[in-house]
Order: sequence, then C-alpha cells, then structure tokens
Amino acid sequence: MSKMPYSEPWRIKMVEPLKTLSREQRVAKIAAAEYNLFNLAAEDVYIDLLTDSGTGAMSDRQWSALMMGDESYAGSRSFLRMKETIGELLGFPYVLPTHQGRAAENVLFSATIKEGDIIPGNAHFDTTKGHIEYRKAIPVDCTIEIEEAISATYPFKGNIDTQKLEATIAKYGAERIPMVIHTVTCNTGGGQPVSMQNLSDVAAICKKHGIPLYFDSARFAENAYFIKMREQGYQDKSIKEIVKEMFSYADGMTMSAKKDAIINIGGFIALKDENLYRECCTYSIIFEGFVTYGGMSGRDMEALSSGLMESTEFDYLEARISQVEYLGKLIKELGIPIVEPVGGHAVYVDAKAFFPQIPQTQYPAQVLGVALYEEAGVRGVEIGTVLADRDPVSRQERPPKLELLRLAIPRRVYTDNHIQVIAWGLGEIWKKRESYTGLKITWEAPIMRHFTARFAKL
Ligand code: F0G
Repeated sequence: MSKMPYSEPWRIKMVEPLKTLSREQRVAKIAAAEYNLFNLAAEDVYIDLLTDSGTGAMSDRQWSALMMGDESYAGSRSFLRMKETIGELLGFPYVLPTHQGRAAENVLFSATIKEGDIIPGNAHFDTTKGHIEYRKAIPVDCTIEIEEAISATYPFKGNIDTQKLEATIAKYGAERIPMVIHTVTCNTGGGQPVSMQNLSDVAAICKKHGIPLYFDSARFAENAYFIKMREQGYQDKSIKEIVKEMFSYADGMTMSAKKDAIINIGGFIALKDENLYRECCTYSIIFEGFVTYGGMSGRDMEALSSGLMESTEFDYLEARISQVEYLGKLIKELGIPIVEPVGGHAVYVDAKAFFPQIPQTQYPAQVLGVALYEEAGVRGVEIGTVLADRDPVSRQERPPKLELLRLAIPRRVYTDNHIQVIAWGLGEIWKKRESYTGLKITWEAPIMRHFTARFAKL
C-alpha cells in the first residue's frame, strides 16, 4: 500500500477574496513603486510571500478564544491561561508577555547584556543582532560551516558548531558571555532545524562554563517536527514530548508569537530563574506594559494559548512543512537552483545562479523579486546585496556570499494551487532568464536601506 498523500487537517470556513491584476497593470504598479516590493499596496499583490510572520490564518478555536479575552490591566484571566499553557507545554514557570519577538529581546537583553559582551549563537536573526549591537555587544556566529553551502544535504543545518563555541568561550572568557542564543529553527536559509543532540551538547557546554542558554523560539514547533522526522530515537515521540525535551535544555526563551503561535501580533519571554524574571519585570513595565499584559491585549493572549496547542500537533505541522517542501520540489523540477534541503517556512531561490549575467552590484535577487511580481503577482523578499547594505565606514557595497530571493509561506493561508502558480511564475522567468538586466539604486537611506530604497531598471 502506498503512503497517503499529505493533506490539511482543517477545512476552509471563511475566505478572503484576492484581486488579480493584469500583467500590464502589475508592470505599471511595480514601476510606480520604484521597483521596491515594500512600496506596493498589499491589495495589488496576489500571493504575498514577504513573510510568514503575523500572516497566518487563525482557527475557529482561536477566533472564538478572542471573545474570552479578559482585558483587566492586572492579573487578567487570559494572562493566567497563557502562563499555564506555557508552563505545561514548554516547562517555564515565569512568563512575561511582549508585543512581539523583538520586544522580548529588548526586555531580556536590557537585564542581561552590557557593552563589550560577546553573544555566541547560530546566525542571530536581524533584530536579535540589532538589539545586541545596539548595546555595543558583539554577536558571534558559531553555526556549523555547512550552512554556507547552498545545496549540501545535511539534516540539521541550523546546528551550532560545538568546537567553534568552545573556541569562542576560550578566546573571550565566560565572564564576557552573558548568554548563548540558539535559534530554533534558524531563520537563515529558510528555517534550517537544530537537532536535539545539538541542543543537548550546547547546553552541556554552557553548563560547564556557567553560561545561561536561551532559545530564540519563533519557529520551535517546526523545529520539533524536523527532529521527529530526521533524528534517530524521536520517530515515536509526540511533538509535544519533543518540544518539552527541547526546552528542558534552555534557561529561558524569547518568542515571536507571530510565527508558531499563529497569531497576528504578540510575543513573550519565558524563564526558569525567578531573580532574572524580577529584573526583567522592571524593563517590561518601562517598555511594554504591566507584567500581566506587556503590550498584548487579553484577547490576543487567549488566541496565543490556543495557537500554541494547535501548532504543536503533528498533522498541522506535516501539512505546513510538506507544503513548503512541495514548493521547493516544483521549483527544483524546473531546474531552478534553490537552497537545500528546504527549511520549515521558506524556499530560497539562488538569484546569482538564476541570473549569472547580472553582477551582484546590480542586485540580481531584487531583479528576480520584481520579475516574479510582474509575472505572477507574487511578492517575495530580497535577501542579498540590497539587504546587506553598505559598509558603515567605507560606504562601499558589500555583496554577501549568497544572493537569494526568499519565498516565505504563511501558515494555513494558501492552497497548493497557489503554490503551483508561484512555481509557474518562476518557470516563465527561467525560460527567458537571459533577457533580464540589472537595477540601480536612485535613492537610499543611510541604514536599513532595503525597506525604502528606490530603484530604476538599467
Ligand atoms: N527571531 C526570529 C528567528 C525571527 O524570525 C524574527 C522575525 C524575530 C526573532 C523577531 O520577531 O518580528 O515578532 O519582532 N522574523 C520575521 C521574518 C520578521 O520575516 O522572518 P518579531
């Protein structure tokens, strides 16, 4: 008997109609947006793959949970339910809500990181790096070397290289290292997972040196799915059992609930240490709000609790991750180079290999993003030379090793027919790839230029 194909463990109860523009209209819209996809009105986008963050579809359980929101300033019932859910599911007794993931970083780092500190991790996410560097501390990337290779099939490309970590601790001394941050899954490369063995090995090193270990947990449930599917000894464990074991290795976590809690806005910090929790409370009150709401409404905390329970169900994760894999498979079948293996939440197309005639200083990944919008109304995001920005001192371009277009798939939002349209669009561009030329920047901001830069076709 053959294996039953994956399918969604839900059906659709409400739909949001999408506008479809003609190709000519899209060509005009993106020209008017000066070839920056961030400048488009979302309504003019047919399939929006800018991010999987805050863009998921809530379930009927979550929508009805909204009605149960307790909006009390202090001691809200919705907070107590959220705290209880996090305690049971993830094993942390102390919880502070925040308005999103970067706010959790801001509160935790305010209490823990100071100038000159060293923060090892596995390719820290942009906002994490931003909050570290803002405090004049230094993030050190200890990801295993294999991460650099585009198509090396290795099951856990998000792992920390334990030798690099030991060497970093030896070089700077444990006193300068207030924490190690392990990001599960690692956003770089489209959600590359971390193995349980690696979490355990890193935790043992941290313990030996007395360094706390925190997980950046935005996509922790997707990570647990990969452990179940790829790591020996976990096939027969439930996702909830795996998740519990993962977090047993952490002293605390920051969470962007816009991903694996499947809500539109929200986040939290969860901790094991009461003293640190007390310190964080002060920063929560200054930056976010009183400790039992921290920038979240009671109704959103209700939806968060339901979302955490749903995202840690195997059937949900199987459909979610299989859909991302399906997109990767379709694109690969066309002969288009992508980062492999495909991660949990996004497919990355290799734009340097797609357009070898376009030098990196003419932004091939941006060209591909614009082309995909013109061709199929699909919006991805450039992860390449535009994002890498200029060197702050020399003001020269600093093209990164990888020049990619990220196609991030929102949770429970698009059907496999949409997925086929995305691949079809890329296929049409692929057929005429030699006819494309580069872009030049006509205006850019001094930092974080990718959000607002204006381009012209060369
Ligand atoms: N950590 C990781 C691994 C993330 O991917 C993000 C956000 C954050 C922290 C910050 O969370 O947005 O709630 O403040 N990633 C989004 C993305 C923006 O598109 O990948 P936030």
